[in-house]
Amino acid sequence: MLEHRVLERLEGLTELTTWRRRLHQYPEVAFHEFETTKYLTEVLRSMDIEVSHPGETGLVGYIKGRGPGPVVAVRADIDALPLQEEKEVEYASKIPNAMHACGHDGHTAIALGVAKIFSGLRDEFTGEIRLIFQPAEEHPPGGAKDMIAAGVLEDVQAIFGLHLWTSRARGKVGIASGPVMAASDQFKIRLYGKGGHGSAPQQTIDTVVLAAQLINNLQNIVSRKVDPLSPAVLSIGTVNAGSAFNIIADKAELTGTVRTFAKETQELVIAELERITSATCESFGAKYELEYVKGYPAVVNDMEMTEFIKEVAQDVLGPSGIEKQEPVMGGEDFAYYLQEVPGSFVFLGAHDPQTGEYQPHHHPKFDIDEKVLPLGVELMARAVARYLDRE
Ligand code: NI
Repeated sequence: MLEHRVLERLEGLTELTTWRRRLHQYPEVAFHEFETTKYLTEVLRSMDIEVSHPGETGLVGYIKGRGPGPVVAVRADIDALPLQEEKEVEYASKIPNAMHACGHDGHTAIALGVAKIFSGLRDEFTGEIRLIFQPAEEHPPGGAKDMIAAGVLEDVQAIFGLHLWTSRARGKVGIASGPVMAASDQFKIRLYGKGGHGSAPQQTIDTVVLAAQLINNLQNIVSRKVDPLSPAVLSIGTVNAGSAFNIIADKAELTGTVRTFAKETQELVIAELERITSATCESFGAKYELEYVKGYPAVVNDMEMTEFIKEVAQDVLGPSGIEKQEPVMGGEDFAYYLQEVPGSFVFLGAHDPQTGEYQPHHHPKFDIDEKVLPLGVELMARAVARYLDRE
């Protein structure tokens, strides 16, 4: 069985920390991962793995078995954050204002580990393992869309990804099917009325009163239009209008954010936002411009693939290692892969359970417990092996 062979090879995997620390010392931010990609290419070539370079800084490794069969993908994000590292460790970032403060160096090292394992097992399976090293997860519009447009998902039947998660202890993993991370959008509304003297409102179209009315009307979207069982948030973050106490403002500007999990809910909120803004402005005789920018869509895990990886995770971490993942309001461009092929994205605990200490993601002293790396490789590699075996 392929999975047994994976376990044997896992024991000989000694490079994980070296790879991770190398990546950690030379971080590169979104869309600038040139040296990172070069380094990863060298490592994959040393394993005799065929590669391609979609986009500017993307990288894909192809491990082909002895004959045709199913194609299963593992995705790692390779970008760092524009942040000055404050942790004093020998492997600290050598690049000013760049730091792997989200654990993507760990994700990448784990994917290299998966590569190493299967590079030595090519005669033992049919099909293909595709390793997607994706740039620019941290910076919308993100790197995933370009990778998909370049064809990295062609023939792929299932995809798995993980995020190291420092608020959870090593040895635990958060898994859930359905939506696990939110769609995170932003909007701007510009209101145009007619200015004038504060004492003569009858000669004006008052955008301050209009803005107040509109803000209230928009609250009806979530409370009266959205299905109460489908989470949604609409928040106005800024309101700007006016220049003096006795002048009626001729313009106002509102900005806000919308968070949703279901696509239908997102579309409903967008349509209602437009309709209510238009109708409210109409009733005042005012004009408006509405700019709506969609961020990453929600990460929606496939039910079957999530059950599948949960069973694998139980064998890796034991039944007590599995925790239900509550939805996270943050975004992730793994979402785009899941719109194309069934798969699952899981949250692997990454702090040392002995000390219980950790820093949150994106913190200047962020770090992972490196003992999680072999667990990440085992989880991903056994999932891949079991998937190929069952097909
Ligand atoms: Ni991240």
